[in-house]
Amino acid sequence: MLQVEALHKSYGKRSILENITFTLKEGDIVGLVGENGAGKSTLLHVLATLQKPTKGKINLNGMTYHWKSFSQIRKHIGFVPQEVAIWEHLTVEENMLFFEKLSWKNKSKEELQSLCLDMKLNRWKEPVHTLSGGMKRKLNLAISLIHEPELLLLDEPTVGIDLKSKQEIAFYLKDLTAKTGMSIIYISHDMDEIMNLCDRVFCIGNDLFYYELLAQAGQEVIQL
Ligand SMILES: Nc1ncnc2c1ncn2[C@@H]1O[C@H](COP(=O)(O)OP(=O)(O)O)[C@@H](O)[C@H]1O
Ligand SMILES: [Mg+2]
Repeated sequence: MLQVEALHKSYGKRSILENITFTLKEGDIVGLVGENGAGKSTLLHVLATLQKPTKGKINLNGMTYHWKSFSQIRKHIGFVPQEVAIWEHLTVEENMLFFEKLSWKNKSKEELQSLCLDMKLNRWKEPVHTLSGGMKRKLNLAISLIHEPELLLLDEPTVGIDLKSKQEIAFYLKDLTAKTGMSIIYISHDMDEIMNLCDRVFCIGNDLFYYELLAQAGQEVIQL
């Protein structure tokens, strides 16, 4: 469903991603690891059409990436950035309704509420600023799923949240990919989480730390 071929990305003269090639199948959950500054977020931004690649080819479900097709491609992608991006003064309900208006699909209030409940986010009428970090992360994730994307890109979606919320999110995502065939690329520094959730792990860069750590736990790592 996703093919990335010989992808390069530079900022000015500085090369960040070099010759990245991989494919993703329907329902795949792939972990993306690497040290800070390795280019993980940059890769996700390119896949999310927020940054243009310097060179290389990307194809998502038969659609080739080209700036002319970016708005079409975006309809098929869910993206959760590293920073939480929701309205703090609005309630969960108001946030969901607001982002539904911006999305490509029409959803009823009941459908939006059940999307939240499925990931154990049950504070429908409460303002976001009163929620825990874990609840806010769940809301951010729920928003990215309103339009039923085929590819979900998650940039450290569970940083700094409690273990229970982490596990609820992981359980929900596994279930969703199994049911819908949605594929996920998941950036995290939490190796337990990566191993629990992901079918495969990609590593950017050649820092042996990640290879050794994951190999010890019996997890294969593919270098990008
Ligand atoms: N918009 C940008 N312009 C210039 N350099 C950038 C930009 N975004 C990221 N970088 C640089 O690219 C490198 C990779 O960053 P990033 O993809 O955020 O790494 P990671 O997510 O793996 O920590 C870093 O050195 C960062 O400073
Ligand atoms: Mg990053």
